[in-house]
Amino acid sequence: MRAWEIVSDGGVDALALNENPMPAPGPGQVVVKIHASSINYRDLTTIEDPVTRKLPYPTIPNSDAAGEIVALGAGVEGLAVGDRVASCFFEDWPAGPISAAIMGTALGGAHPGVLAEHVVLSAGGVIPIPDHLTWRQAATLPCAALTAWHALSEPHPVQPGETVLLLGTGGVSVFAQQFCRMMGVRTIATSSSDAKLERMRELGAMETINYRDTPDWDRTVRQLTDGAGVDRVIEVGGPGTLQKSIAATRVGGHVALIGILSGVAGTVSPTDIMRKSITVRGIYVGSRQMFAEMNAAISHHQLEPVIDETFAFEDARSAYHRMRNAGHFGKLVIDVA
Ligand SMILES: NC(=O)c1ccc[n+]([C@@H]2O[C@H](COP(=O)([O-])OP(=O)(O)OC[C@H]3O[C@@H](n4cnc5c(N)ncnc54)[C@H](OP(=O)(O)O)[C@@H]3O)[C@@H](O)[C@H]2O)c1
Repeated sequence: MRAWEIVSDGGVDALALNENPMPAPGPGQVVVKIHASSINYRDLTTIEDPVTRKLPYPTIPNSDAAGEIVALGAGVEGLAVGDRVASCFFEDWPAGPISAAIMGTALGGAHPGVLAEHVVLSAGGVIPIPDHLTWRQAATLPCAALTAWHALSEPHPVQPGETVLLLGTGGVSVFAQQFCRMMGVRTIATSSSDAKLERMRELGAMETINYRDTPDWDRTVRQLTDGAGVDRVIEVGGPGTLQKSIAATRVGGHVALIGILSGVAGTVSPTDIMRKSITVRGIYVGSRQMFAEMNAAISHHQLEPVIDETFAFEDARSAYHRMRNAGHFGKLVIDVA
């Protein structure tokens, strides 16, 4: 069976498509025939910098996949050959709070990834997918969708009528927009592109701001909320946006800190956080239990993930190049079989 592998620090163009032995399930494991894999910004940064992450060569990239179970190891209960499943980003985070041990079970990082024709996963590291979703759609759920769901539902769910600020129109933010519409939550979306903002409006965004044309977008957000600020921010920008996100948040509001699209280091003044009693909460994807709750909501509302483009397995490198160029809206998917 074939697998894409990181074999050097040469970046996307150095990814190798290798022939590997067919995996066999150990006790408590399943083998999944992968049909589709979606990519996340983190997969791109992993491929571009395996050294900082201390990854051994070869390492299979990607956390997100959907496929069918083709073999069960000893002792596996509640799953059957033929079940349609998705990978869980953390192979071993059933429920409850995150821990350092759980963080060591991330696919496409500490654990082998899923950009392969067959993968072996722990039985607790897969989850049944909503019936109405295609393989491609289901493959978008494990990281971006679950992260957005977690950010909107913990430590307490956003309430109908509240306002959430979404930054940019990548995988996480577009899912957050879809979930907010489902939950009756008002959104203010930002983007560098007017065309993408129009698409966010089609998905239900109430207000939109072009952050390139309006560098003081935090001020506009406060104006749009009668001076108060939003209840929650889906913060994917990091150092380049966090200070403004805090300024755009209401007293007692919440910043779900998810991404570092604008860089890894910067300066944030703690004064506003303290004075406005804002909670800044780091989010790291989510547990299998959160994934199950999200899938129940997706099924009930027949929600369909937004896929920007799909790539052939042999052309997987192009998917990462497209992500690097940031022209996409929503998710990028690789067909596997
Ligand atoms: N903590 C977690 O568990 C977790 C989970 C998933 C993702 N993440 C992180 O969250 C971030 C987003 O992930 P993703 O998969 O959604 O990425 P993505 O699909 O690559 O999102 C890219 C989009 O983000 C927007 N963007 C880029 N720089 C921006 C800036 N300075 N201000 C506002 N928007 C900006 C752009 O939108 P426009 O083109 O519309 O301007 C860009 O197209 C990444 O840093 C990723 O590593 C973290």
